[in-house]
Amino acid sequence: MAPSFNLGAPVNTALLLYILYSVQKILLPSTSKPSKVPNEFRQGYSWLPKTHPPTVVYQIYTPKTLAPFNGENGGRILLAIQGTVFDVTAGRNFYGPNGMYGNFAGRDASRGMAKQSFDVEMLTPIDQPLDKLDDLKPDEIENMKGWYDHFANKYIICGKLVENDAI
Ligand code: HEM
Repeated sequence: MAPSFNLGAPVNTALLLYILYSVQKILLPSTSKPSKVPNEFRQGYSWLPKTHPPTVVYQIYTPKTLAPFNGENGGRILLAIQGTVFDVTAGRNFYGPNGMYGNFAGRDASRGMAKQSFDVEMLTPIDQPLDKLDDLKPDEIENMKGWYDHFANKYIICGKLVENDAI
């Protein structure tokens, strides 16, 4: 005799109700927002954070537009090496206003990286043409490239540095 499905049996009724409940939860997921920020994934799996996390947009900078990104007042910190702009905000201890390498913040750091010096003389004034770096010795270029690789592995590349009058 073929097994029959007896809906009258309490266990089957309970199972059927449970299946219907599970299916409707999948098809019509709850969109109500919890009243407080969930601290584990089961409570807050499908809803949006209050604000979008900060995004980094690739941009073209000039020495003048890069300069404000020096980390003052808690702002972002950018620096450039060989025309590539890195977002080094995560390294605020190094590049923040009181950091050991704070001179590089908002500036073209190429020469300082090449010559292993954070002296102010390493920096080109922001109203001057970009440092051509053509007087650097091969070992200094190598040193700068080593730093470039360090930065490329650690920080986000977020732009390109061009001459003040290029944009
Ligand atoms: C008194 C000499 C110096 C000491 C004691 C020193 C010490 C340090 C220390 C402890 C770190 C952290 C390394 C890490 O945790 O990854 C570091 C990183 C660094 N140092 Fe120096 N340093 C000195 C000189 C210099 C000079 C002259 C420069 C100039 C270019 C320089 C540029 C850097 C840079 C760019 C970093 C990487 C920071 C980062 O990863 O964002 N340092 N240094």
